[in-house]
Amino acid sequence: MKREIPVSKPFIGETEIQYANDALSKNAISGFFGEYISKFETAFANYSDCKYGVATSSGTTALHLALLALSIGKDDEILVATLTNMASFFAVIYQGAKPIPIDIEEDTLNIDPNILESKISPRTKAILVVHLFGHPVNMDPVMVIARRHNLYVIEDCAEAHGAIYKGKKIGGIGDIGCFSFYANKIITTGEGGMITTNNYPLAEKARSLKGLAFGDTNKFMHKDIGYNYRMTNLQAAIGYAQLEKIETIINRKRAIARYYSEKLNNLECLQLPIEKSYARNVYWMYHMVLRGKANGHRTLIMKKLLEKGIETREGFIPYNMQDIFIKRGWTRLEDCPKANDVAMNSFYLPSGTSLTNEELAYVVTKLIEILESI
Ligand SMILES: Cc1ncc(COP(=O)(O)O)c(C=O)c1O
Repeated sequence: MKREIPVSKPFIGETEIQYANDALSKNAISGFFGEYISKFETAFANYSDCKYGVATSSGTTALHLALLALSIGKDDEILVATLTNMASFFAVIYQGAKPIPIDIEEDTLNIDPNILESKISPRTKAILVVHLFGHPVNMDPVMVIARRHNLYVIEDCAEAHGAIYKGKKIGGIGDIGCFSFYANKIITTGEGGMITTNNYPLAEKARSLKGLAFGDTNKFMHKDIGYNYRMTNLQAAIGYAQLEKIETIINRKRAIARYYSEKLNNLECLQLPIEKSYARNVYWMYHMVLRGKANGHRTLIMKKLLEKGIETREGFIPYNMQDIFIKRGWTRLEDCPKANDVAMNSFYLPSGTSLTNEELAYVVTKLIEILESI
């Protein structure tokens, strides 16, 4: 039988089915009614060391809502980690604001705080950091710079639920955090997202805008130009069940990463993910960079792994490498050289919680064989 080892698979159990059935049986299926939305928001905010949670229809809409709540608009400049899912940039562009891509640190692959100050202009309004692949950003220097220049800090936490920076969960270190619950995320609602914040007016503004900004006394006299970015109660029921097992999921992700790192550590041609002394990395995906003799051979390596039934995926293509933005004259290829190098040479291994130890051993053996043959 041919093996098929996927990069990830959701971890859905009986409780998800039970809570979803409960929502269904009560006809509580929309984004306005039902107990699970507020239960999930409160429990997730609590888990993330934050006061308030606002559930949304996706991570992308959470990001857009965050910018709306912060009143970021036309011609404002936002410093954004260049190496990310382009949703981080799209949200800025939806608002007519201008994203300024920031290059990465070589080891964590997160935004390099040392570059930030040189990119600040009188128009800069915010810094949007991304806790990439589960490793928290070095937040202290980011926060110092933000406070010095009176900038907001938005945390894109889509890949890092439960990641810890210096003893504190991510999502509430900056002004506003944005999570995704897409099917391959640490916990999932199929599609979905969440804003987290400790700022009550921000939370309330986001809550109003995500629900068409209906009026308080006369519902149909709207308070603002609203959006429908609501998560449904049905999705929240699944999320609430997922949250009960989030630490089990993270522990398994960490065990998988530990295994890979132990076995691959002495290969000079691989740059492995790390965990800084200040961090708990939740290892959303085990993402590696090909170095030395393997540099430039990504397509071949991924193809050979697939022939052995092992699915892998290429790393992100940064903002400054995207044709759609270069063509518009918004960025140049050479803006962020470190991110370009990683983008061309990175991929991730199967990282789902359903992986068996035997499958992990198989992935490692095949990868080493392939790398030795290069
Ligand atoms: C860093 C990052 N930001 C934003 C998103 C967008 O989230 P969603 O797919 O839920 O819209 C994703 C993932 O999809 C992501 O990885």
